[in-house]
Amino acid sequence: MNSRRDFLKGSLVLGVAAAAGRPGIARAATTFPPGLVYTKDYLGRWKGKEGAHVPKVTVEGGKVTILTPHPMTPAHFIVKHTLLSADGNVLGEKTFTAADPKAESVYNLPADFKGALWATSFCNLHDLWLTEFTV
Ligand SMILES: [Fe+2]
Repeated sequence: MNSRRDFLKGSLVLGVAAAAGRPGIARAATTFPPGLVYTKDYLGRWKGKEGAHVPKVTVEGGKVTILTPHPMTPAHFIVKHTLLSADGNVLGEKTFTAADPKAESVYNLPADFKGALWATSFCNLHDLWLTEFTV
């Protein structure tokens, strides 16, 4: 149950951090039930699956690259990536099919962007995974 408690604590921190000084933005993070979103720190029922599901993020030259090192087969593949800002804006998204060779997407950041971002990756069998990072 420690991982659940840590996840809830992390969600609270995320929600509070996201809401600080920005009225009207996503406080919903504080109410996420366990098992809705998985992270490197909250593996829930998918413990052992993190290596292929936690989105790997690279930031370079004003671009964010999200890579999910996951097999892409007709029965099991990454469906979608999204890049979200702290105020809930979708800065980019890419939908994949099993025919794509890999689950990789690249997004241009707004000029001079600084702040927290969230990269998501959705597996058709292993649900929604999230990596928080700051640029
Ligand atoms: Fe998967």
